[in-house]
Amino acid sequence: MSFKDIEDVLYHGMKDLLSAEKQFRDALPKLAEAAEDQELSDAFREHREETLNQIDRLERGFSMLGRAERSEKCKAASGLVAEGDGIVDESGEAPAKDVMLTAAGRKVEHYEIASYEDCVRWARVLGKKDLAALLEETLEEEKAASKKLQRISDRLAKAAPSPAMH
Ligand SMILES: [Fe+2]
Repeated sequence: MSFKDIEDVLYHGMKDLLSAEKQFRDALPKLAEAAEDQELSDAFREHREETLNQIDRLERGFSMLGRAERSEKCKAASGLVAEGDGIVDESGEAPAKDVMLTAAGRKVEHYEIASYEDCVRWARVLGKKDLAALLEETLEEEKAASKKLQRISDRLAKAAPSPAMH
């Protein structure tokens, strides 16, 4: 891959995101399953549904850019998924372990937020307003997902026993 202009940069960003979204799509059911808290489990499940739409948007985005639909293995996503899997496999008490799951989810969201924010700005630089708007829809979903996880995390953190209690 050579980067000659901002279109190359945006194309790379979108290929990376397509790979990331597909990895998160496959990883989210495991997090939903592992979560004991119903609201958290539902949040992971709902975000998986959103992720399917986000993949669809990226696929449409490639044709708006006039480039072939490709994904390029996102190593950061692989690392984030591996970290989440590691938490799922740990033993632990429900509220504390669920808080760990929210943290894993939020790290994923923030990787995506940074990536989509950049792609939106690059699309604007290129004058591709429709593409920028399309990617921004996903960006807003990722931000909302992160906020929701944060709210659940705060509730669960308060419910978790303090060290002195056990
Ligand atoms: Fe996403």
